Amino acid sequence: MRIGILGTGSMTAALGAGWTRAGHDVVIGSRDPDRARRLSERLGAAGGTDYEEAARSDVVVIALHDTEVFPIVASLADALDGVVVIDLNNPIDPPAYESRYAGTASLGERVAAAAPGARVVKAFNTVYAERLTESSHEPSGPVQVFLASDDRIAKEVVAGLVRQLDAEPVDVGPLRVSRHLEALAGFEVDLVERGFARVVGFRIVVQGEE
Ligand SMILES: NC(=O)c1ccc[n+]([C@@H]2O[C@H](COP(=O)([O-])OP(=O)(O)OC[C@H]3O[C@@H](n4cnc5c(N)ncnc54)[C@H](OP(=O)(O)O)[C@@H]3O)[C@@H](O)[C@H]2O)c1
Repeated sequence: MRIGILGTGSMTAALGAGWTRAGHDVVIGSRDPDRARRLSERLGAAGGTDYEEAARSDVVVIALHDTEVFPIVASLADALDGVVVIDLNNPIDPPAYESRYAGTASLGERVAAAAPGARVVKAFNTVYAERLTESSHEPSGPVQVFLASDDRIAKEVVAGLVRQLDAEPVDVGPLRVSRHLEALAGFEVDLVERGFARVVGFRIVVQGEE
């Protein structure tokens, strides 16, 4: 499958490497296509280009600096029509970060509103890149990736991609659950600020089950 990843940060590197190894054509999109090409070469991916071209993919991952998510997604709304879009972004920028305490919609819901035809799945936002690049198996089992979406089929597509990273997809409900997932990511950031290593994370355990 052709997977477009927008942005050239550490999440792009982690996911791009994993899905390239799994045999997908990973195309990286950047403000600076040369930077995308360099990263693509480093990962052995299919290529690097601009956002518009990378958005012409079967699955598109938005992995952008949080303040830039909206303008860029909105400019690509036509290209994203009908496309499975993974939103892994967190509102870390201080004004947006505060919004997790207010009654406003999550970033995931606002991504969906900015590109109304896109089939948005909130995924990966609670998983530090370091947990994906190290062995995905931790003492308690595989890394869990929480998936929130209103689109059942898109969620299944993303669940398959999660499994190819040796991680475990966990369906946590509709896209509005993004509010909780983004709050959880905020908690992880707090923990790291308090001295936890960047391999801190969460898993859902149900007492009495294996
Ligand atoms: N890092 C993690 O462990 C982690 C884990 C879960 C979720 N997230 C979320 O994933 C998203 C990506 O995080 P990241 O750490 O991979 O990368 P990042 O440092 O937040 O930046 C991602 C990319 O955004 C692009 N960008 C576009 N306009 C920008 C601007 N004005 N300033 C800075 N960058 C701009 C840049 O790529 P180009 O310039 O090449 O286009 C940059 O590489 C964020 O929303 C973050 O909250 C991160």
